Amino acid sequence: MQEKIVQLLYNAADYISGQQISESLGVSRQAVNKAVKSLREKGFEIESVTNKGYLLRNTPARLCAEAVMCHLNTKLIGKKIIVLDTVGSTNDYLKSLGSKGAEAGTVVIAREQTAGKGRLGRVWDSKRDDGIFLSLLLRPELSPSEISAITPLSGLAMCRAINDFCMLDSRIKWPNDIIVGKKKLVGILTEMSAEFDKVEFTVTGIGINVEHTSFPDEISHKATSILLETGRHIDQNKFVAAILNYLEQELVMNRYRLSGQSVYDYKDLCATIGRQVTFTKGGRNKTGMAVNINNSGELEVMLSNGTISTVNSGEVTVQGIY
Ligand code: BTN
Repeated sequence: MQEKIVQLLYNAADYISGQQISESLGVSRQAVNKAVKSLREKGFEIESVTNKGYLLRNTPARLCAEAVMCHLNTKLIGKKIIVLDTVGSTNDYLKSLGSKGAEAGTVVIAREQTAGKGRLGRVWDSKRDDGIFLSLLLRPELSPSEISAITPLSGLAMCRAINDFCMLDSRIKWPNDIIVGKKKLVGILTEMSAEFDKVEFTVTGIGINVEHTSFPDEISHKATSILLETGRHIDQNKFVAAILNYLEQELVMNRYRLSGQSVYDYKDLCATIGRQVTFTKGGRNKTGMAVNINNSGELEVMLSNGTISTVNSGEVTVQGIY
């Protein structure tokens, strides 16, 4: 109910009376008063004036489910949002909810992770309030071999959300890092639970560097943050809503598949194409020119002998990036 009250107040041009709120939500005046009190405790500045009603003056600065929800225009993604102060890994937390039947579209966001996971068994540095650590549960009706589109579509959505909301010129380093210039801003890790021929659910984890003012020496040449790139502190609730809106557009509206348009858009934003890349295939290191992303989302690389090698996962080093 709290998110519905926030939505009503957010969309109202003027004060709304407690009576109006209780009638439109079908709850008692007492329940409205109680919900307003809890919202104030969460940081919503709600003014109340006798004979006029309530007016929303400000939404909280810190991440808060109700504040994200009032900026959402999705049908599936973010219908349930859980914000945690601290967690081991939002991916692990959501996988455990997924195995207990949590609904598709559930989102978990944490202010801190104590065991944040990156791709290829790496650690994702997740200090309190430095970044946004977010995971999304989906239940696509696909076979395990068909879910490979989830990662590039999520990358595309992230790139769009950043460029639109932060006014940056971010690009995608295949398969799913988001970079600004030569430095990484976002990492994406998709995991799944499947039976032999059916996906039970997928969990896509997104780590965004937001408030970092510096990085440890070992990664400072290849990592950046929104604050470092823009010099501004963003409204994280509005930003998360923008991300979820774009994820719905790219994932749900494409039915979790790469369409001709999404491949075209992905290629347009992909910084890997046109660069020398090094990758490992069949136990061997290979080098060539990245020339295309095919309709399955694989990277096509032209080797020095003129043949095309396709890469579908793993680590790719891109000359001039990392
Ligand atoms: C990468 O290596 O680039 C992927 C990083 C993914 C990090 C995110 S943060 C939210 C979610 N929870 C995790 O433990 N990992 C992902």
